[in-house]
Amino acid sequence: MGISGRDLVTAGHGLEADDLPPFDAERPDAARVDPRAWFDAPDRPFEIEIGCGKGTFLVQQAEDGRDVNYLGIEQARAFYRHAADRARRRALANVRILHADATEFVRYRCPDAIATVVHLYFSDPWPKKRHHKRRVAQERSLADFHRVLAPDGQLRLVTDHDDLWTWYEALAERCAHLFERRPFAAVESAQPGELVGSNYERKFAREGRPFHAMTLVRKKGPHPR
Ligand SMILES: C[S@@+](CC[C@H](N)C(=O)[O-])C[C@H]1O[C@@H](n2cnc3c(N)ncnc32)[C@H](O)[C@@H]1O
Repeated sequence: MGISGRDLVTAGHGLEADDLPPFDAERPDAARVDPRAWFDAPDRPFEIEIGCGKGTFLVQQAEDGRDVNYLGIEQARAFYRHAADRARRRALANVRILHADATEFVRYRCPDAIATVVHLYFSDPWPKKRHHKRRVAQERSLADFHRVLAPDGQLRLVTDHDDLWTWYEALAERCAHLFERRPFAAVESAQPGELVGSNYERKFAREGRPFHAMTLVRKKGPHPR
């Protein structure tokens, strides 16, 4: 039984650690896996959402009729199961949900230059200073996103949290050799007045919270290892 009180079925749209090749720290390259191969049409542009929660944004994007494959990565099992079941019930051939730590999956598993967009929306703010190291966006993860993004690929960031926004702004400055900061354009599948239309955006909008957003466009150049 899932968070919705329904029986959830993830088969066909959900993937777990057991579905990946074993990870050997001595030979990390042998553990690489190309997630584009998980889709019926693997040659389509490929986008990743980190921390997709219940999958609201991904499902909405996929149903909007774009020829894009979407991978949602979610570490909380209940949300992963909910999102994968949702994609299955809607028979979305261009959505897959992976139950994993997204930063580790991107760092150790993803080949270079596979994604056109990495979406990171309403990421957990970890407000206490001693927990800042748990934030998804770090210098190391931005270098990893740069590596997996294709030329001109984008990292898209939205948050309601003022302190996390200050963190993003400082990070964007420190990573200016990797990414060019640009304004954030609302996605086409969002409703009027929304930026992305994710679950948390809708919840926080009802509470009247303002949002911050930026797009970081991948600069050319070698991937820092
Ligand atoms: C505040 S929720 C936002 C969910 C969704 N993006 C939205 O806007 O509605 C953050 C989600 O990110 C997930 N998450 C946090 N760190 C993660 C990581 N390293 N890998 C995968 N998921 C992560 C959490 O489990 C949670 O579901």
